[in-house]
Amino acid sequence: QAPGLIDGFGRTISYLRVSVTDRCDLRCNYCMPKGFKGFEEPAHWMSHAEMARLIGLFVALGVTKVRLTGGEPLMRRGVDELAARITALPQVSDLSLSTNATTLKRHAAKLKAAGVKRLNVSLDSLDPARFAAITGRDCLADVLAGLAEARTVGFAPIKLNCVVSSDVPEQEILQLLGYALDNGFILRLIETMPMGSTGQQFVHANLTRLGAQLAQRFGLVPAIDPSDTGPARYWTQGQGHPVLGVITPMSQHFCEACNRVRLTVDGTLHLCLGQDDAVPLGRMLRAGASDAELTAAIHAGIAAKPERHEFTTKREQVVRFMSQTGG
Ligand code: GTP
Ligand code: 5AD
Ligand code: SF4
Repeated sequence: QAPGLIDGFGRTISYLRVSVTDRCDLRCNYCMPKGFKGFEEPAHWMSHAEMARLIGLFVALGVTKVRLTGGEPLMRRGVDELAARITALPQVSDLSLSTNATTLKRHAAKLKAAGVKRLNVSLDSLDPARFAAITGRDCLADVLAGLAEARTVGFAPIKLNCVVSSDVPEQEILQLLGYALDNGFILRLIETMPMGSTGQQFVHANLTRLGAQLAQRFGLVPAIDPSDTGPARYWTQGQGHPVLGVITPMSQHFCEACNRVRLTVDGTLHLCLGQDDAVPLGRMLRAGASDAELTAAIHAGIAAKPERHEFTTKREQVVRFMSQTGG
């Protein structure tokens, strides 16, 4: 039995989010600025073997849940091979992936075969023009084809992640909810977080309120998602899996139950989504650090994990963009 990673506030860290690339084929307006060029140099990308080594250290310390993120993780060549390596670690009970699904149609079967258990897919609009305005690309049809294929190869239930700022028309959300219900997906509405300077100011919608209103209107009842240890709050139609969820970092944060840390493509360990505290594990690894030295650095980082994000209380924003850690 692993000793467990416990932070300075008594929280057990059992979930590692691994960004396998900071690149993306989309430019979602809340995530990256237009014309962004500040991507990590390929020379600094951890190889799959280096990532597997770092992930293995976390797993030996008690991590059981791993999520592959980006940028867009499917842009990293061989991501299914990395997934298979992670699946092969017996302690990992849950391997998942968050994608924009633009290329999911050709990746879905390989991901399933590699042992990926769960998929979360970004989908902000079912209106092709609004989708293109938000993401910078007119490719809603590819995303919907990717979702259909993922369902066909047996991913269920798939979660749809929809970032909601205050200017999103309610009609849009109702349309997404209808689509989710028709296809057996879980719609998750997410309050926009202010990460990096994307060149736009977003006012997040209050989803604590909207979630309750939608639940009342559609007769939904509160539920927990059995596959889930995350920040979302869910509702069902009275039976079966949840159909609607909200993630409310702004109106009602969930940091006291935080169970996660993040690794970026260059092997930097980020201790909180909304803070800049980090440990350069990748640089240490490349400088020849032993497993014992890396393990000590992980322990020291976890011990210093910040209590919470300060999106709502601090004037300065976190400097990195959401795309660097994939949420
Ligand atoms: P599940 O395990 O399926 O619940 O996935 P998840 O919600 O952990 O991951 P996903 O990549 O789908 O992220 C959904 C949204 O939650 C994104 O907007 C993330 O930025 C946000 N999110 C995930 N973890 C955290 C966190 O620790 N803090 C905050 N503030 N937001 C988070
Ligand atoms: N605020 C909230 N969620 C965000 N995501 C990306 N940028 C932001 C932001 N600024 C979400 C995307 C994706 C998930 C991994 O992170 O919807 O599905
Ligand atoms: Fe790419 Fe996801 Fe960021 Fe959109 S939210 S630009 S799909 S990494």
